[in-house]
Amino acid sequence: MGRPYRKGSKFAAEWQPSELLSDGQFSGRSTSNASNPLWDYFEANTEGPGIWKWKHYFEIYHRHLGRFIGKKVDMLEIGIFSGGSLGMWKSYFGSGCHIYGVDIEEACKAYESDSVSVYIGDQEDSVFWDKFISEVPHIDVLIDDGGHTPEQQMVTLEKMLPRIRPGGVYICEDVHAINHRFAAYAAGLVSELNAMDYSRPGIEDNVKTSTFQSECHSIHFYPFSVVIEKHAEAQHELPNLRRGTQWQPFYE
Ligand SMILES: C[S@@+](CC[C@H](N)C(=O)[O-])C[C@H]1O[C@@H](n2cnc3c(N)ncnc32)[C@H](O)[C@@H]1O
Repeated sequence: MGRPYRKGSKFAAEWQPSELLSDGQFSGRSTSNASNPLWDYFEANTEGPGIWKWKHYFEIYHRHLGRFIGKKVDMLEIGIFSGGSLGMWKSYFGSGCHIYGVDIEEACKAYESDSVSVYIGDQEDSVFWDKFISEVPHIDVLIDDGGHTPEQQMVTLEKMLPRIRPGGVYICEDVHAINHRFAAYAAGLVSELNAMDYSRPGIEDNVKTSTFQSECHSIHFYPFSVVIEKHAEAQHELPNLRRGTQWQPFYE
């Protein structure tokens, strides 16, 4: 890992401004917040319970969570602070959602309502999670916006990622600065996502997935945030397919 990691870091740190940005053309999906109901809600929230988010998170949220709008969804946000984000999620997902909030501060109990359940505890405490799981065994969407230390983020992920339902999404926020230990941990998860046992016969045609691969679809890195998506159905194999009858002889 060491040398390629340093090579990649150096390449990225020395990246030069692209002349392509000045011609006004782009392909694919815009990353602006135009037509993003979460951003609209945030901008309109000029008074009342506060919401505190990095601006670029709104596009990430809408990209990964848009498919849950209007569905029956159980969502957990770790880090309640002044309660405004709980209302934002409720408005975004609609009346079919139930919001669970976790915070270490007892004052956050004030934000409990029919559709919002608040749990007070330390996200770095695995016993707290055992108790939480005994009451809320499964959720669809988790956002870790709590204390933001790598230890808290790792304990929370190991307890709660297995509890995310098929097709669900796990977001860990505020993975700040170069060489962050949670980012290194997430890179370890990526390594397992690439697992392939070359000693197994037929491996070039069909990979029998590891348990992690069978359940975890993808891991996405953004500035300060890591997103993990789960498969909607378990993927037990990754076939390597060909179609067609004409092949060049030079590559077998
Ligand atoms: C950045 S604020 C959350 C902001 C909120 N999600 C929002 O969008 O406005 C972080 C919150 O995490 C809580 N917190 C800090 N350490 C924690 C811990 N160990 N376990 C649970 N919550 C924690 C703090 O009390 C604070 O309310």
